[in-house]
Amino acid sequence: MATVAKNVTAGVTLGSLRDTPTLIERLWPAQKISRESEAERKSVAGQTLTGLGGYWKGRKPLILNRACILGALLPATSDPAKDLEVFERLMMIDDRGFVERCKSRRAHEYAAIALEHRVYTPVELAKFFAVRDRVSNAGGTKVISYRTLDRLDSDVLHEFGRDIVWHPSIQTSFHNVAARILSHVPYDTKIDESVRPEYLETTDPNAHDYMWDMVNSHLGTSANSMPQLVEQLGIMRFGHLPQVGDSFSGSGQIPYEALRMGCDTYASDPNPIAALLTWSSFTLAGMSPADLDELMVELQRVELSVEKAMERYETDAEGNRAKAFLYCLETKCPDTGYMIPLVPSLVISPKNGTIGRLVPNHVERRIDIEIVNGASAAELKAAAAGTVTSEYVIYELDGVEHRFSIASVRGDQRQGTVRSNGLRPWSGDDIEPRDGDIFGERLYCVQWATEESWTRGRQDVFYAAPTDEDRQRDALVAQVVRENLAKWREAGLVPDMRIEPGLKTDDPIRTRGWTNWLHLFHPRQILMLAQLHKLIKEHPRANELYFFMPRALDNNSRLNRWANGQGGGLGGPKGTFDNQALNTLINFAVRGSIGVRSLVGGPARSSDLNAARRIDTVPGSQVTVDRDIWITDPPYADAVVYHELTEFFISWLRRDPPAPFNEWTWDSRRPLAIQGEGEDFRRKMVETYGNLAAHMPANGIQIVMFTHQSGAVWADMAQIFWGAGLQVSAAWYIATETGSNAPGKRGAGLVQGTVILVLRKLGEPESGYEDEIAQEVRAEVARQIDTMVGLNQSLKGVGRIENLFEDADLQMAGYAAALRVLTGYTRIDGRDMTAEASRPRKKGEKGFVERIIEFAVQVANEHMVPGNLSGRLWQQLSGSERFYLKMVDLEADGLSKLDNYQNFARAFRVPDYTALMADTRANSARLKSSMDFKRRTGFEIPDFGSGIIRAVLYGIWELSAGTDPQLILEQVRDMVENYLRRREDMIEVAEYIGAMRGREEGEGRFAIILANLLRNEKF
Ligand SMILES: C[S@@+](CC[C@H](N)C(=O)[O-])C[C@H]1O[C@@H](n2cnc3c(N)ncnc32)[C@H](O)[C@@H]1O
Repeated sequence: MATVAKNVTAGVTLGSLRDTPTLIERLWPAQKISRESEAERKSVAGQTLTGLGGYWKGRKPLILNRACILGALLPATSDPAKDLEVFERLMMIDDRGFVERCKSRRAHEYAAIALEHRVYTPVELAKFFAVRDRVSNAGGTKVISYRTLDRLDSDVLHEFGRDIVWHPSIQTSFHNVAARILSHVPYDTKIDESVRPEYLETTDPNAHDYMWDMVNSHLGTSANSMPQLVEQLGIMRFGHLPQVGDSFSGSGQIPYEALRMGCDTYASDPNPIAALLTWSSFTLAGMSPADLDELMVELQRVELSVEKAMERYETDAEGNRAKAFLYCLETKCPDTGYMIPLVPSLVISPKNGTIGRLVPNHVERRIDIEIVNGASAAELKAAAAGTVTSEYVIYELDGVEHRFSIASVRGDQRQGTVRSNGLRPWSGDDIEPRDGDIFGERLYCVQWATEESWTRGRQDVFYAAPTDEDRQRDALVAQVVRENLAKWREAGLVPDMRIEPGLKTDDPIRTRGWTNWLHLFHPRQILMLAQLHKLIKEHPRANELYFFMPRALDNNSRLNRWANGQGGGLGGPKGTFDNQALNTLINFAVRGSIGVRSLVGGPARSSDLNAARRIDTVPGSQVTVDRDIWITDPPYADAVVYHELTEFFISWLRRDPPAPFNEWTWDSRRPLAIQGEGEDFRRKMVETYGNLAAHMPANGIQIVMFTHQSGAVWADMAQIFWGAGLQVSAAWYIATETGSNAPGKRGAGLVQGTVILVLRKLGEPESGYEDEIAQEVRAEVARQIDTMVGLNQSLKGVGRIENLFEDADLQMAGYAAALRVLTGYTRIDGRDMTAEASRPRKKGEKGFVERIIEFAVQVANEHMVPGNLSGRLWQQLSGSERFYLKMVDLEADGLSKLDNYQNFARAFRVPDYTALMADTRANSARLKSSMDFKRRTGFEIPDFGSGIIRAVLYGIWELSAGTDPQLILEQVRDMVENYLRRREDMIEVAEYIGAMRGREEGEGRFAIILANLLRNEKF
């Protein structure tokens, strides 16, 4: 027998958790984590690392990463309720945590909640609260006297209001009372009224103090901080400080959180911009706040030097300083020969009433833009239409409207799939269009900061049309750039890199004739950025300041849109990666150097991080480092083409970067990048995950995050991990919305979710047969769901008002259970499943894996019968009908996220769930009620229109419209096939709708009347 050694420093038993399942394999409060993740995203500038590079899209919330790491370290013991309590306490997502997170909530507010929800009786409340009577000043010392109460009821609360305070004798136990009171407040309300746990932790080093006794006594640890706990759990599970790795590190959100928790951290990503962001997050967000402040002062100095150097190119004779320059393309009208400025909108600043007005210039044969300030609302409205629509240039000259297509002036052609046009490809040294080019470029407006205000943080601005002096300054800038270009290139300060064709990089090549990354920058931007680059490179802290270069580049290119609604309608430029493409613009904004000031900021917070760390720039398939825990977020069917987009930055930064970046390959490594979802994707993923599995111990654990897009992903992922020698052990679903006005079908919000898969190394090879496995899947799915539902109920029993697991979690658990069974087999029906994973497949091919997964979903759905319905009725309903009744149940719980509807529609295989919806906005989705269907609609909906639910809804509507009950019964009889046999079912549906919608009024009341009518029907 192996001897068990005590680790002296930690006082815990080495290896005592070696084979214990982890918490995330058994339970994980995915609903709360979803909401906390959403709150982190919504905090925008409050997100810790985003200030290092907002251009990087798809950052995984830090709180989600923490929940994964903690879930992979904590044990699942024989006391799941306690396990959960400990996890939630550590995450500060329990009610005790909310007492800390919402310090501004006053005693009288707690008392009001307690009364409203009857948490305590008025007599009990009198023990916890008192009335502050008098504040006197005795010899300079403040003395507060209190009056105790016999009972605290709403009259007392009303009388004393804010003078109700915590009873002085309650002392620290007020936390427990407060937590108990908060347990009656819905989670969303609590979140809205609280700070994020991360904020608390970084502002108060003692924020966790209260939790350790409880945590240590459950876990047998002796920690006093998160890093200590992490170390001790690591020793108990792996024999050392946990080694955590992310081989798809991107912006570094996952490894940064691992480092912050005290893990020995490894990150890798073949893309040097990802590596730079990861390095910067470790370094900048990992230094003390005082050091970070000092570094930011250095950055401000650099930025001020750039402002100084640019002064002569940006200042007018009165001393006003340009904050932004607005340029547009111009082209010659084939009808009139006039040069026409191309602007989609002439509104520049709604707040200032600034618009452009088109004025013909017959001498120079062009249309000028005059700048008008203080325009009326009607003028602003008229100015919204500029001179271009998506296809045409439209303008008026001497009362005649002229119109020509952009495609025709550009000479667009298409041969087969190859598109071409008559644009001149720019040469490497071009910095602006040449005379005679189809598209010229014109400065049409300048945003000025006044002489008195331009040095201030908040400036007074005004807009003016460019003068001859402005144009001369522009010409001077271009001349300086031309004279210095070769020298700067030699010094690696500006790009000299061809734009390689690609999914996203084709756009600038095709629509502008740009061939070199330099062309994406206006001469003013080249001049300013070259100076900034030089100053940063020469700085003694160059590597720490380097993160600022991509940030500055993002915000200073010809792809910066002028957003007239920005700054409360003042107008302002948007960054290049405002969208995840390289779309060229017809008009764009160039920031003056003082406009760059606001970009200096860095991480939102930092703390001294000391744990070991390492960054590599190898692909996951070539990682050589062993890790206990791998947490990865691979680019599954990702809309973000990171490798192409980052070439925008790489073109500037690749030559002689400061150490340690000089050891990296400054190339986007397109051939190495995993992308898409085809065969190449699967092969690379199997290779990568096979390598990661080889670099973890037998009890190692992997967590993979990926965006949930369709049911097909399950089969794909199962096969990939199978092929890589991994077995699924759990799955969770994290929901995040990306806005209700995002483009989508019928105004539906764009909903995104992330699936969290937990994986272990595949055990002993097993073989089996499809029909046997199907039975095993049925049993496992049922067991899993029943266990979770059981846990929900037992927790409700101890005063939790919200479910631990919502239906989406149950469904996910159903999938996971199926995958757990499936991926446990290496041979099925004689086929080698590892080889099967790499087999090329036809699009839409439905193999064995897909069949088993579908079967699992069916089993899961059968186990998710809404509360009051009988299993017998449920079995008889179609997918659409089950969907409808299930959603009625969820609506009764106040849920209204479209995400839920989409998930269930998918699960119940509803052909078109939107036909059943009254509202499809992301956060206020709603089913059609009987009042929405009215008398005639909805009968055409497949699987629904001819069924009993539609008939019941019809009856409810007719009753509410005052139709004679006997007539209604006759109509319903005609409507339903086998009416006599289905009558009982209809009564059950009507009762159910009544119970869910509220029996007292509206639809619910009429549903109950209908149920009684049907029940008492005489034949
Ligand atoms: C979805 S992103 C990761 C985002 C990251 N979790 C975050 O929060 O910012 C995927 C990353 O995988 C990287 N990648 C692409 N192909 C890769 C490969 N073969 N090996 C490792 N990483 C790769 C991309 O460069 C990108 O940074």
